[in-house]
Amino acid sequence: MADLSVLTVAGAGPMGGDGWWLPTGASSFAHRVDGLVNTASILGLLSILIIVGLALLFLFGSGRREEGVEPSAPSVGLQLATGLGVALIAGSLFYAGFTIWIDMITPPANAYEITVSAQPGSWHFTYPNEHVDGELHVPVGRPVILHLLSRNLAYTFSAPALRLRSAVIPGREGELWFEATQPGRYEAVCARYAGEAGGEMVAPVVVHKRGEFASWLKSVSDFLSTLPPEEAGRKLYDMNGCAQCHSLDGSRKTGPSFKGIFGHEAELADGSTVVVDLDYVKESILQPKAKVVKGFEPVMPPFAGRISEKETEAIAAFLQSLSDAPKDAENSEGGEAP
Ligand code: HEC
Repeated sequence: MADLSVLTVAGAGPMGGDGWWLPTGASSFAHRVDGLVNTASILGLLSILIIVGLALLFLFGSGRREEGVEPSAPSVGLQLATGLGVALIAGSLFYAGFTIWIDMITPPANAYEITVSAQPGSWHFTYPNEHVDGELHVPVGRPVILHLLSRNLAYTFSAPALRLRSAVIPGREGELWFEATQPGRYEAVCARYAGEAGGEMVAPVVVHKRGEFASWLKSVSDFLSTLPPEEAGRKLYDMNGCAQCHSLDGSRKTGPSFKGIFGHEAELADGSTVVVDLDYVKESILQPKAKVVKGFEPVMPPFAGRISEKETEAIAAFLQSLSDAPKDAENSEGGEAP
């Protein structure tokens, strides 16, 4: 917006900060919204002073009418000037508010998108990599769009520090956007009475310093370090399309089933045998053609460069958990033999 400096001057200064007045502003809207709120408040206060002052003056002032002089109406010029002045002030406030509102409902194209789901008692934030978290984390200095969803109740999402507030209505996707300007910890709340659970709907909002957001997201969505290895392995099996060729129930697909192979001997195409252990699983994943299982075509694509060392270990742990009697368990941990 064309900065109406009169309106934004009041945005800074003693009224900022987390005192009795507005909360700390941490988004690009804060300065403008606060400027408007402060200006409107100051104008309101001035009007009260002027009106009450004039009323007192007329009550107690020595407004004695001079003998024989008719009271005259203010000049047309004065009336016009007053009217125009008031219209100008009201118009400026409207213009400032309107442009802020237009900006608030027009997210930029390159924004980072996070889905906010409201459910009784909590907010859930889903990041583009499908990580779901109970906290809203955002990078500083980058526009963020929040898609607001609720399945069956109406909520109001409010993040005062970001100067954000919107109803979350079931069956209708709401949208808010902002750009955080101040790294720090803030709060998002439900600003509507939503039953007893509503009061607990407070979610931390974390604005990360430049460059720290990506590493936060990576660390929390790193299921390899958070899940037990065999569960992480199962996830990798699903994610990497292994299921296309390897069943878990013993049935033969393009490749051998994963059921019960770990710790057992596999017959290779060249007539030799090999025990399926961690090293063999690793090799089979990274360079499948090194040892080809008897009776199968060497059609498995090499996963070298796509699956890390740690991931192969998790897959091995998963295979081990599918095995009845693991003979060679010392190489991998976390497997659970039934
Ligand atoms: C396009 C089909 C295909 C895909 C996808 C595939 N494989 Fe295979 N895999 C095979 C075939 C065929 C064999 C047997 C021939 C060989 O050893 O190369 C095999 C063999 C193996 C073996 C050795 C099995 C044994 O009984 O000795 C392991 C372990 C293995 N694959 C793991 C994986 C993992 C883990 C994935 C997913 C990351 C995967 N494969 C994806 C086709 C596939």
